Amino acid sequence: MTESTPAPYVGPTRVLSGIQPSGALHLGNYLGALIKFVALQDQRPYLFVADLHAITVWQDPAKLAEQTREIAAAYVAAGLDPAKASIFPQSAVRAHAELGWIFNCVARLGWLDRMTQFKEKSGKHKERSSVGLYTYPVLQAADILVYKATHVPVGEDQKQHLELTRDVAAKFNHDFAQPGFFPLPEPLIQGPGARVMSLRDGTSKMSKSDPSDYSRINLTDDADAIAQKIRKAKTDPEPLPDNLEALKARPEADNLVGIFAALSGETKEAVLARFSGQGFGAFKPALVEVAVETLAPVGERMRRLMQDPAEIDRILADGAQQASEVAEPVLAEVRKIVGFWAPRGAGLA
Ligand code: TYM
Repeated sequence: MTESTPAPYVGPTRVLSGIQPSGALHLGNYLGALIKFVALQDQRPYLFVADLHAITVWQDPAKLAEQTREIAAAYVAAGLDPAKASIFPQSAVRAHAELGWIFNCVARLGWLDRMTQFKEKSGKHKERSSVGLYTYPVLQAADILVYKATHVPVGEDQKQHLELTRDVAAKFNHDFAQPGFFPLPEPLIQGPGARVMSLRDGTSKMSKSDPSDYSRINLTDDADAIAQKIRKAKTDPEPLPDNLEALKARPEADNLVGIFAALSGETKEAVLARFSGQGFGAFKPALVEVAVETLAPVGERMRRLMQDPAEIDRILADGAQQASEVAEPVLAEVRKIVGFWAPRGAGLA
């Protein structure tokens, strides 16, 4: 084939994202992902609970379905309306796994070797990691492209996986001579909540796997726990500066200003304009107020929803049905493009 500019994708705008059911959700998930999903809900997003991804590391089978319901409850508690967003378990739409396999044959080993998250998660025990953990970003590409999604709201840690998704889409389109078949999806990452750092160390990411519970605010923390964790958050003795440049060398201060901005829907500049010259003795109580006001009701709604698992199951089943209606026809097209057997005369309409 001669190389030329690839044909642009012509198709509807479609928003999609997912969260793993592998532990309690925290403020990073809320600011990096959930509130963005809510802001985009009029686009009728596809939002799943990434249970296939969760089992790349050991999950207790007795708890996985419950953890899946918990993420669904968090979606709704954060403000998503199941009449607008399709909320579903990833494993309930089989097309993800099937396209994932096909993409395993499109993606190159060299691409996966570059993935920093695999290196972080496998640590010193690479040879003892599951094969699924290694090929995880390829399944993520399938999650996105099986809906021909065009926009993917995520935190900054997913940027490299989105780049791989674009590479897979472009290679598939090229190898099978189907210009513009898959879109090259855009990550939606911007904003002060895109990378929330640990409350104990401003240089490491807030994460479920940090052994210290004081490093993160969990979505299910009550008002007292939220206040206590913010009061104990690491800071420095200087007053807040009046410009972003001066914040850069102060990771803990930078993080708390970013959290304030993301929670209150302001820019970091606006937060600094209000608090510059003041120390953390004044800033932290204001942060506690905005954090409790925003997060405590989400936790409360989550706890209430979890008491009605039948309602959550109904949301997940409806969502899976809606998602399958989009994913199955795309997978059928892909099967035909790849050349898989189908009964003669059973072409696509
Ligand atoms: P997961 O479950 O680790 O995280 C869910 C979302 O939360 C964001 N996030 C953060 N944002 C800001 N600061 C933090 N400290 C922070 N920690 C987590 C993540 O960026 C993510 O948006 N691979 C994905 C799940 C996934 C997916 C997909 C996402 C599977 N398939 C397809 C989008 C599209 C993951 O493990 O997210």
